[in-house]
Amino acid sequence: MPAVFSALGRRARPPTIARLMSLALENPRLLSLAAGFTDNRTLPVAAVRAAVTALAAQPGEPEWLQYGSNAGRPRLRELLAARLATQEPGLDPVATRDRLFVTNGSQQALYLAMQALCDPGDLVLVDRPSYFVFLELLTGLGVEARSLPVDAAGKIDAPALGALLGTMKTRGELGRLKAVYFVSYYSNPSGRSLDLVEKNALAATLAAHGAVVPVIEDAAYRELWFAAPHPAPSVLTLPAWEKFPRLYLSTLTKPFASGLKVGWGVCTDADWLARMLHTKGHHDFGTANFNQAVCEQVLATGGLEAQLAVSRPAYARKMRALHAALVSAGLPARGWHWREAEGGLYLWLEAPATLDTGLDSAFCRACVEAGVLYVPGELCFGDDAPKNFVRLSYGVLAEPELAEAARRFAGVAAKM
Ligand SMILES: Cc1ncc(COP(=O)(O)O)c(C=O)c1O
Repeated sequence: MPAVFSALGRRARPPTIARLMSLALENPRLLSLAAGFTDNRTLPVAAVRAAVTALAAQPGEPEWLQYGSNAGRPRLRELLAARLATQEPGLDPVATRDRLFVTNGSQQALYLAMQALCDPGDLVLVDRPSYFVFLELLTGLGVEARSLPVDAAGKIDAPALGALLGTMKTRGELGRLKAVYFVSYYSNPSGRSLDLVEKNALAATLAAHGAVVPVIEDAAYRELWFAAPHPAPSVLTLPAWEKFPRLYLSTLTKPFASGLKVGWGVCTDADWLARMLHTKGHHDFGTANFNQAVCEQVLATGGLEAQLAVSRPAYARKMRALHAALVSAGLPARGWHWREAEGGLYLWLEAPATLDTGLDSAFCRACVEAGVLYVPGELCFGDDAPKNFVRLSYGVLAEPELAEAARRFAGVAAKM
């Protein structure tokens, strides 16, 4: 007898990244600018070895090989809260530790947040463009994403948002609006950061239209700045957001080691936090304690700063290498636009309006044939997706491979 699935099971679709990867397997010489992975060459092998050696040398029982607690290791939570307080003056590290929980990557925290807030048929406002795995997660839960309007420069357009909220109110949709989500520092996919004016205007517009709903600020790339940290504070300390239930998400995967899959969140709303933790208890009753113990050692001994001192300039160099190769291959002259990133792992390219770069497009197929893979921008929109955007990641490939991948990509662009 075939299994009969739940509504959730029936909605589940293969993640798009899996489809892109299977395309990659068809062509072994393919260079991937698609995966948002970190760089194997700069992963912190020595720091992890030192952390494990220190753990093994500790007197007493090896508690770090035992189950941990649901919310995460107390000392790790304290260290993460203290680090965040240095980035956000005004944040009380002790209160922050008590609101902080450790997750299996920040991806799990995103899922917990949505499970606690949303039922099928609900609505979530998302940045435009947005993190495509989060958009897939919403689809999987039967939740509808709606884009926060942006202006021509990609900044949040507060008057247009006001109009959208007005329309939603008229249509009786505001009651279904359960959350607002945005990636605020060196975004995946756009590389943009939200500035103070945008953040304040977003809060003011939501409040003015009676939409004081939970907000999720995804700061996965905040630590991966190139020249200087982005100056805008988070929703945790901005007075404009004080009335909103807030969940600030971060991770040690991007700035330290993605394979450890340790992420974390700070939630200002005790009830929301408790419900997410109850659900986490159902998922796994605690993130891998060993991985947390390694991260704890690393944070306590300055290992995260040491790793960032290596990875920040390395990613900055790789971003410049990809940018320069795309420029010298003639892409701007063919009407393509993008901005150099100031942090993170991505370049976000806008192709001429008439060029379809979607997953099923001739352009995408030609790129795979030419041996280069990218993420079609159309995947990164909650609604009304344009077809002429492309996300390129410089995380994985070395500089000579980035240059070759850029040549292949621009070669296809020249033919189209
Ligand atoms: C914007 C954003 N948020 C969250 C995540 C999840 O990261 P992790 O689960 O590794 O912490 C990612 C991963 O690529 C991301 O790009």
